Amino acid sequence: MKSISTVYDCNIIPLPRIQSVKGNITPISELDNIPFTIERVYYLYDVPGGQERGGHAHKNLQQLIVAVSGSFDIILNDGVNKKRVMLNRPYEGLLMPSGIWRELTNFSSGAICLVLASAKYTENDYLRMYEDFLKFKQDSLAS
Ligand code: TYD
Repeated sequence: MKSISTVYDCNIIPLPRIQSVKGNITPISELDNIPFTIERVYYLYDVPGGQERGGHAHKNLQQLIVAVSGSFDIILNDGVNKKRVMLNRPYEGLLMPSGIWRELTNFSSGAICLVLASAKYTENDYLRMYEDFLKFKQDSLAS
């Protein structure tokens, strides 16, 4: 599967927000907010200060990433361009197409990173070596 996505395809989208003096709700329904079917939900938490996560890309997986609590930065890289995005609002999500190298960094204390993903976990979908990622992108552009 080829992936000619760029960092400019990684956009922050607003999520619904139901506000109340009793607290707020953000519902995320598939077709309304995101362009893929949610097959998996996972979340990162208890990230020690100074710790970095990510450091990989996906061949096919699409994701919506939300800072449901606290904040963190995502450094996006398509092999040519880089973009740094800070997530700190539970009513916004970063839409990530496949084929983007990402590093998550600068986690605040207590940060929770919610990920809605288009497929179940499979190690085969990961590009964990940066050189493999660059080759994947070059092959995608060439085909
Ligand atoms: P990984 O995606 O590399 O974490 P991060 O990008 O946040 O650093 O996953 C870390 C480990 O957890 C790896 O061994 C795979 C495993 N894992 C699952 O088993 N299921 C999942 O849904 C996820 C996201 C990871």
